Amino acid sequence: MGGVLYVDLFSDNLAKLDDHISYFKKLGLTYLHLMPLFAVPKGDNDGGYAVSDYRAINPDIGTMEELSKLAAALRDEGISLVLDFVFNHTSDEHIWAQKAKSGDPDFMAYYYAYPDRELPDQFQKYLRDIFPTVRKGSFTWCEEMKRWVLTTFNSFQWDLNYSNPEVFRAMAEEMFFLANQGIEVLRLDAVAFIWKRLGTNCENQPEAHTIIRAFNAMTKIVAPCLLFKSEAIVHPDEVIQYIHRDECQLSYNPLLMALLWEALATREVKLLEYSMRNRYPTPAGCTWVNFIRCHDDIGWTFDDQDARNVGIDPVAHRKFLNKFYTGDYPGSYAKGVPFQFNADTGDVRISGTFSSLAGLEDAIEKKDNELIEQAVRRVNLLRSIQVSIGGIPLLYIGDEWGMLNDYTYLTDPGKVNDSRWVHRSRKRWNAREDLTDQDTLEWRFFHEMVELFNLRKKLPALQNGGMEIIHTENPHLFGYNRAFKDQKILIINNFSEKPQKMDALHLNACGVKRDVVNLINNEILSSGSDLVLNGHQSVWLDIS
Ligand code: GLC
Repeated sequence: MGGVLYVDLFSDNLAKLDDHISYFKKLGLTYLHLMPLFAVPKGDNDGGYAVSDYRAINPDIGTMEELSKLAAALRDEGISLVLDFVFNHTSDEHIWAQKAKSGDPDFMAYYYAYPDRELPDQFQKYLRDIFPTVRKGSFTWCEEMKRWVLTTFNSFQWDLNYSNPEVFRAMAEEMFFLANQGIEVLRLDAVAFIWKRLGTNCENQPEAHTIIRAFNAMTKIVAPCLLFKSEAIVHPDEVIQYIHRDECQLSYNPLLMALLWEALATREVKLLEYSMRNRYPTPAGCTWVNFIRCHDDIGWTFDDQDARNVGIDPVAHRKFLNKFYTGDYPGSYAKGVPFQFNADTGDVRISGTFSSLAGLEDAIEKKDNELIEQAVRRVNLLRSIQVSIGGIPLLYIGDEWGMLNDYTYLTDPGKVNDSRWVHRSRKRWNAREDLTDQDTLEWRFFHEMVELFNLRKKLPALQNGGMEIIHTENPHLFGYNRAFKDQKILIINNFSEKPQKMDALHLNACGVKRDVVNLINNEILSSGSDLVLNGHQSVWLDIS
């Protein structure tokens, strides 16, 4: 079980984080990802992703000594510490960038820096704008250096040039420094972008894989317990390429995330079922990190041909999903906020918390208990799939209390242009008392979730088993089998708010041969009867 949080927003600083280890234990976490906490420029620093020093912690958050002590304390409690390895770029205040600015040719060669527009213009033809509302184009003029610098993300994030072996060597040193602090998993930030080739979009180049393999080969010698997690939020054909024992043993699963939201909006599971059947398996010794929400936006990264194969027009469908999740579609319950609308292409992505996207904010505003109940059920449905389909479930801390959108970023000049801050809010510890009151939504979210986590821990099939998608013969029901040794569990999830049925004959063909128990509520489904699921219900049938 994984959890991810911003230290400053969760506990102000590293020293106070120590006091919350019991909270992580209560949640059942065995993996804790701290969002980037390194030294960064003041003001906008892309949420910590513009690193000025990989060996120094942001002084507002703490010290490196505190971090390594925390790593040890977490390990004593069976929790692995996960940190970012932001190796595609540094901030423009990193010592390497400063030396480059001062004209040192060795350090100018760490970056892609050009005296005129000739090469930048050639590169630019094929590059996409990652943050189109912030700026156009991927090069930034640096007056001190009198050079155009490649800056794929923000203008203050300078892309490192891995065709210079010195860059690889220098970053390897930073990586080992982190490993020595007791970090067990490194999240390879923006991994798809690390190799640039003129005449391409500079994403997913073969050399990116070579570089990860090289980093890996070295860690196998001197830090053999270190694992890599891929953060490749790209086309699913490319995502899978980074997953390998010798590359990233773990990977975010952006496709499952996007398609869970897709199925929730359409109430139909055909694209989810089709894509998961064909795209779920990972190489031996590797697994997915399954998330519903994270600190970033939601992009609809499904494959166009997969969509067409199930009768969906991919372009129109993405438009529909964007409208639906920004609440601009009849009957939509979602309170998403558009992120990075691109006027040239019409593309946009979605920000917003799990609960606000699932309808809770809207329901609370309308003071409608029936709608609140529906929103809670949607959250529990996605959660149930996240913890049962296979891989490491990753909880975005705050969601365990049903965190809603926080619009205060609109008044902060360092955040106002980045709607992702709507779902990165301060932990409301003052609401903690609500956890003791069984009538609160916080209590319900927390306890229903922890119960599910605990149940999962008791079921080897859910932790180690293979996953096989089954066709339920009902367009609203998403089903799969998990099996390990002699344990077999059939999981069926209803994406409609109305009751849905799976008939007895078909259930029998899917392995229900006798009376079986639904492990979530201990109800018995008697042999020979149809399975009727309530709206948004999920059942885990023990068919061992
Ligand atoms: C990754 C991070 C994102 C950041 C980007 C640039 O995609 O998740 O938050 O903006 O890298 O570092």
